Amino acid sequence: MRETIRFLLSETDCSIAGLPPTMTVLEWLRTEARACGTKEGCAEGDCGACTVVLGEVIDGRLRYRAVNACILFIASLDGRQLLTVEHLRGPDGTLHPVQQALVEQHGSQCGFCTPGFVMSLFALYHAGGGADRQAVQEALAGNLCRCTGYRPIVDAALAACAGPPADRFAANAAAIAARLQALATGEPLGLTHASGKFLVPRSLEQLDGLTQTWPDAVLLAGGTDAALWVTKQYRALPEVIALDRVEGLDTVTEDDSLLRVGASATYEDALAALAWHWPEFARMVRRVGSRQIRNRGTIGGNVANASPIGDTPPALIALGATLVLRAAGERRRIAAEDFFLGYRKTALARGEYLEAIEVPLPAPGQLFAVYKVSKRLEQDISAVCGAFALTLDGGKVASVRIAFGGMAAVPKRAVQTELSLLGQLWTQDSVALAMEALDAELAPISDMRASAAYRKLVARNLLLRFQLETAPLSDAAVRLSEVAA
Ligand SMILES: Cc1cc2nc3c(=O)[nH]c(=O)nc-3n(C[C@H](O)[C@H](O)[C@H](O)COP(=O)(O)OP(=O)(O)OC[C@H]3O[C@@H](n4cnc5c(N)ncnc54)[C@H](O)[C@@H]3O)c2cc1C
Ligand code: FES
Ligand code: FES
Repeated sequence: MRETIRFLLSETDCSIAGLPPTMTVLEWLRTEARACGTKEGCAEGDCGACTVVLGEVIDGRLRYRAVNACILFIASLDGRQLLTVEHLRGPDGTLHPVQQALVEQHGSQCGFCTPGFVMSLFALYHAGGGADRQAVQEALAGNLCRCTGYRPIVDAALAACAGPPADRFAANAAAIAARLQALATGEPLGLTHASGKFLVPRSLEQLDGLTQTWPDAVLLAGGTDAALWVTKQYRALPEVIALDRVEGLDTVTEDDSLLRVGASATYEDALAALAWHWPEFARMVRRVGSRQIRNRGTIGGNVANASPIGDTPPALIALGATLVLRAAGERRRIAAEDFFLGYRKTALARGEYLEAIEVPLPAPGQLFAVYKVSKRLEQDISAVCGAFALTLDGGKVASVRIAFGGMAAVPKRAVQTELSLLGQLWTQDSVALAMEALDAELAPISDMRASAAYRKLVARNLLLRFQLETAPLSDAAVRLSEVAA
């Protein structure tokens, strides 16, 4: 296997060998490359001060994506282009349009956050043009500024990102894509260092072999959970197998009955398909972390991480998703709700990995909602997340699946609550009884995000909200007027 990380640092061929593979790109930039424009704020993906842009060839086209350098390992640079704030100015010193707009709109004061904002805006500038206020807010939700205030920054974004990209990076895109594709040929990367081994398979067959040889290796998808074990807990990762270069593992496909999300598909890769079939699901996914997190983080990682407050498992359970698990080329399928065995304990056997998530396409008339309750809209972890899927027949509940995050040690399906609703009229009276069942069925804990009592109240009310939003309007209107009276 190849022992050298090869990538483009802007337009320069760059190689790294002999460094710990889990050194972060931020640390490498500041201490090895001596490029200190990229700043460290939180070192956990929250503040955006370290935002850089990765160029990757996706579907034959060069795409620029903003990511957090503080939780990106240097080994993940292999085969990619890395752009930092140092690279945007033209050879004659001309500022990039996003930098110029920030100057003109007075979008910087102390300047600590500015390189991160510049890079997020650069990625937005290259996203296709025509960014409106909502697109700007989404692109900048992962960048915090303590002193300027966001209005001038948003104004700069609106001014700079109004049209299609027309900078030297756009002009050079085909040539860079060809160079990246050339880098992707030859032997796969396999780094051995005193601090640990980092293996980057390119095919499912290679991944099958490596997971059998190294069954205890950490499987690294986007690393937005796992990288924090290194940056925050100072853990060594002696064996890592990266999933983000395995061909076919990141595909999102569908047939007549299923949407299939490959385990290494990022949130951003999966968004369009989710938005098409379940707009509510996509709306919630847009609240997972920030654009930088969603550009690297995967639904597969969210599931395999098995956090009780991960945002996608409740929706996947409510939608009746099946997980495809694979070991040594053999597949088995398991219902999403059966995957979570205990606190951060999953049904994955040693040497087995998650290959894909299969979600049945909505049945005609399926009603679905997922609600994330957190203190902030973006960049916040849920206190409670509730997901509901329902079909009605003649006003009665023909099928229902309900799942919650934050209400137990695992993402949990509320089976008793479902049973209390089955066959009942979809009215507030039925829901009132179901709320009692829910109370008896789920026993959340109190922690820094919310008390158990708060969580119980929220869970009840989310069920009521779902009923109010989906019941025939006449019923809801009558009941609301009763409440008002
Ligand atoms: C700033 C910040 C904000 C965040 N906000 C949210 C949020 O709003 N909501 C939320 O739910 N989460 C949030 N997260 C957590 C994280 O982004 C998500 O859980 C994400 O989906 C993890 O995906 P990943 O690809 O980065 O996983 P990784 O970090 O690569 O992996 C996570 C775990 O899953 C395992 N794993 C990954 N892929 C596989 C596989 N195919 N087979 C077997 N095991 C596998 C890894 O070994 C590891 O144990 C946030 C994280 C950060 C840093
Ligand atoms: S330093 Fe805060 S997001 Fe990276
Ligand atoms: S300009 Fe000071 S933090 Fe943003």
